[in-house]
Amino acid sequence: MLFIDKLFGKEDKKLDKGKLPVHIAIIPDGNGRWAKKRGLPRSIGHKEGTNALRSIVKIADRVGIKYLTIYAFSTENWRRPKDEVDTLMALMLEFLKNAEKELEGSDVRIRVIGNTKGMSGELQNEIKRVTKLTEKRKGLNLVIALNYGGRDEIINTIKDIARDVLDGKLSIDRINEQLISEKLYTSDIPDPDMIIRTSGELRSSNFLLWQSAYTEYWFPDMLWPDFKEKDFIEAVCEYQKRNRRYGGV
Ligand code: IPE
Ligand code: IPE
Ligand code: MG
Repeated sequence: MLFIDKLFGKEDKKLDKGKLPVHIAIIPDGNGRWAKKRGLPRSIGHKEGTNALRSIVKIADRVGIKYLTIYAFSTENWRRPKDEVDTLMALMLEFLKNAEKELEGSDVRIRVIGNTKGMSGELQNEIKRVTKLTEKRKGLNLVIALNYGGRDEIINTIKDIARDVLDGKLSIDRINEQLISEKLYTSDIPDPDMIIRTSGELRSSNFLLWQSAYTEYWFPDMLWPDFKEKDFIEAVCEYQKRNRRYGGV
């Protein structure tokens, strides 16, 4: 991947291309504060945040990351004022509508996790369209977590399993980690190797609770609209310095 050397000079020299994380997940936080610092409405922060997302998708694909999950809207974000929720939904719709043109020539597959039934009909249709259109693609899997909550996901999984037990399709002895993983929204997606949360907040805010049992966290201070391609490369370098032990020695 010589082009990366050309693009980023020294930054990526430290990057070991043989030891890439398979799955990076991001909590893109700080759009509101980014706008506030500039005396702008929060909606402008969200718009800038979407631009940051576009460039990070491209760099993740170029670096050779297989899965990039973005926490776009949480089950708790409905608590925000209606006009802010509307802005976030409109930006998501626009992002999906432009994705084809934006990612032309790339092999990016787009999928969505979360309770999509709670979204507008228009957004649901767009999700179906883009998901179908890109489903055969073999490059980066861009996973958008929309109306996603880790607890909500676990509750749904428990209900599914309980139903199967009641219907006599499943014996309780067969409930194990693998079965639960297969019933989550992320059934065919590997657990994230690294979760990045921008803006200096040090919490998971209900993101990938089950899947992050052994995930490496990285909390850069910058606000999401300021997160650039070089910061993404730095995250990968940071990941490569970590020593994952999974409870062993
Ligand atoms: C994250 O930025 C964007 C979403 C929730 C989609 P925020 O809107 O949470 O920004 P801050 O935390 O208020 O700065
Ligand atoms: C987490 O950010 C959710 C998303 C980025 C979509 P929040 O800004 O909503 O999280 P809290 O409220 O600060 O924990
Ligand atoms: Mg926030």
